[in-house]
Amino acid sequence: MPMEQTTLDPAFEAALTGLGDGPLDEARLRRHIFPLFSRVLERDEIYLANHSLGRPADRMAEDVQHALDAWYRDMDGAWELWMEEIGRFRAQVARLLGLSRADAVVPKTNAGQGLRAVLNAIPKDRLRVVTTRGEFDSVDFILKAYAQRGRAEVVWAEPDEAGMFHAEQLLDLCARRTDLLVVSQVYYATGQHLTGLRELIRSAQERGVLVMVDVYHAAGVLPVEMETLGADFTIGGCYKYLRGGPGACWLAIHPRHLEDGTGEGGGRFGVLDTGWFAKRDVFSFARAETPEYAPGGDGWLESTPPILTAFQAKAGLELTLGLGVERLRAYNLHQQEILAESLRSNGVEPVLLDERGAFLLVRSADAPGMCERLAARGVKADARMGFVRLCPDVLNTEAELARAGEVVGEVLRH
Ligand SMILES: Cc1ncc(COP(=O)(O)O)c(C=O)c1O
Repeated sequence: MPMEQTTLDPAFEAALTGLGDGPLDEARLRRHIFPLFSRVLERDEIYLANHSLGRPADRMAEDVQHALDAWYRDMDGAWELWMEEIGRFRAQVARLLGLSRADAVVPKTNAGQGLRAVLNAIPKDRLRVVTTRGEFDSVDFILKAYAQRGRAEVVWAEPDEAGMFHAEQLLDLCARRTDLLVVSQVYYATGQHLTGLRELIRSAQERGVLVMVDVYHAAGVLPVEMETLGADFTIGGCYKYLRGGPGACWLAIHPRHLEDGTGEGGGRFGVLDTGWFAKRDVFSFARAETPEYAPGGDGWLESTPPILTAFQAKAGLELTLGLGVERLRAYNLHQQEILAESLRSNGVEPVLLDERGAFLLVRSADAPGMCERLAARGVKADARMGFVRLCPDVLNTEAELARAGEVVGEVLRH
């Protein structure tokens, strides 16, 4: 599948042109980007849960409406528009992940689906999987379910005293015959950015291990560059930093697995999470006795796909790519510093890991209760494992960050 040319929406194009190429700054963001978010910005709160459910652009609803209008108007003629948008979704995610092929991105409705597709595709009855105690609940639960059914032996890396994981520790666990290593690039509870990931992937692969990286907290936050990173698979989705809501997720497969010389879809894997959209010739309705998969990443598709999710994700992906992940990263780190400074001047010492994702932490013995008290005072955050997570994004102003620091200080004092 060729990388499709993206046609930018004129309002987005004007906003991005107006913003210019330089580093992001609040005055220009207010002028050019805030108007694209008038609906969410009507809410009277300081929203710092951008790492949880991202804020959608006004255009998201219009894009979804456009998909639905085509259905009313054209009935099955709408498939053309729908399939084109799914192709664009794959191309946009491929760009975001530094992939040279759009078909390397296989749309999924959640990240867990991507994990299961890989577990089921490795041709072995009982897999040996190495992972950490820090993976998101979805990954954790699925692996435990496979272990319970005897489908996998799972080896868990425990966190150190500070709740961190280390590449060397993971590599040691891969020492014996291991099929799959599953790690996060950025850990969801602590925001730890796993250092040495590239070397870990390479060393694990030298031992014959396939590596899956959960990039849910990395994609759109910091450059992922999957081809350079070398990960065999990544899973992720759009409902956080990419502002695309639930359901717009993916399994991405490194291009080296997409061509095995046989032209057989799924490369050397026997893709079992499959369906008629993975067929070599989808609309021929031919039924060969043995499944003939489409070549490349299309051989990993499944049955009739959801279509609205691609429209839901479109505006957020365009904006993320238009703003550029490197600029977003620099601006987010700057905002974290402002927030951290405000917390400190209000008597709160934040946890600022040296290597971290897009949010910072405040320790609390009752983090859920603290979030409720913050919400009552107009600050939206969330809690995980003894921490309150605070994540600014381009729509937060410096005044909001300063105020959030005061409110956290007040809540902790009372
Ligand atoms: C690191 C990480 N992975 C995955 C997910 C979501 O998993 P799923 O799409 O399977 O529900 C989340 C959601 O918060 C996450 O933080």
